Amino acid sequence: MRPEHLNLLRCPMSGAELAIADGIIEDGRVRSGRLVAKGGGAAAPAYPIVDFVPRFVSSENYARNFGFEWNLHARTQYDSESGHKVSEERLFKYSGWPRRMDSEVILEAGSGSGRFTESLLRTGATVVSFDYSDAVEANRDSNGADPNLLLVQADIYAMPFPRGAFDRVLCYGVLQHTPDPEAAFKALVPHLRPGGQLATDIYLKSLTYYWLNTRYWVRPLTRDMDPERLYRWCKAYVSFMWPLVRALRHLPFGQAVIWRLLIADTIDDMPGADDATLKEWAYLDSFDMLSPRYDLPQTPAVFERWHRDCGLEHIDVRLGSNGVAGSARRPVGGSVPTEKEATDA
Ligand SMILES: C[S@@+](CC[C@H](N)C(=O)[O-])C[C@H]1O[C@@H](n2cnc3c(N)ncnc32)[C@H](O)[C@@H]1O
Repeated sequence: MRPEHLNLLRCPMSGAELAIADGIIEDGRVRSGRLVAKGGGAAAPAYPIVDFVPRFVSSENYARNFGFEWNLHARTQYDSESGHKVSEERLFKYSGWPRRMDSEVILEAGSGSGRFTESLLRTGATVVSFDYSDAVEANRDSNGADPNLLLVQADIYAMPFPRGAFDRVLCYGVLQHTPDPEAAFKALVPHLRPGGQLATDIYLKSLTYYWLNTRYWVRPLTRDMDPERLYRWCKAYVSFMWPLVRALRHLPFGQAVIWRLLIADTIDDMPGADDATLKEWAYLDSFDMLSPRYDLPQTPAVFERWHRDCGLEHIDVRLGSNGVAGSARRPVGGSVPTEKEATDA
């Protein structure tokens, strides 16, 4: 982190401002030190800064599989690595946000290895990204030198940020992987400034995407496996099945069969990608299907209701490349319900 970004952080327990203690600065960034809550005296909570990243949580939590996968495939899904604009197109198509957002401040929840962080930084905005797992280390290695990035390790249920402070909040690919997606969604809204824009998505719950989706039958057997072991299995299985994938993918219903064989074939997202790239994405995404502790898709109607519960306006909920995508705005006047009020609604 950079000292000038301190005003974007708060104690997640009390909401108090934080001060840097024992900071070691390297090239304008705080490599190590502590963030101490102001006004708390000797008993004030303190949070370590480790390898340039403030840590509000430990990495030993239910998202350990994500830390493993995003550090192993730290740049696989980056547009700048693949040469395909998969992340950029998804971001701007479904959020409806402009390509330039200079002087705005954006909060990105659950940033993983940072593929959307890369696209957000290109808009000229100040970007505050966080993740629950040590995937933040992959993000730091790719984007950490950007002076417009504040990156922290934190929990969506106890965010260390001021309320009402962000022009935009983005949360893509995350909500279904939390233990209570509705509460996670509703925790994001108070961080928007009045008039601020929210863009989120969640996996789709439907007959074909959920009930007839083999991944949900197999996950109970795989989600608690040691990530390294499961990844080895996924890689061996994908390699073994790959000739079949190549034969099936251009047949009618071929993609539906391939995904039900638990292999993620992303050729439709990246037409023209070479075989090695598609295979690498398949290793990553097949592991990503089977390893999460939580995978709780929702229907569009339920997802839309969460937006209404929060008093948002200009709500647009539609089917998107990752399930259901939503965009909305916090009203300029009036107040947004508290998380509790929204949850009770
Ligand atoms: C499928 S990954 C998506 C990462 C990134 N948004 C992307 O689309 O590439 C889901 C991410 O959500 C994070 N996550 C899960 N629970 C979280 C929580 N309680 N707080 C913050 N991040 C969380 C995981 O660590 C993981 O990196």
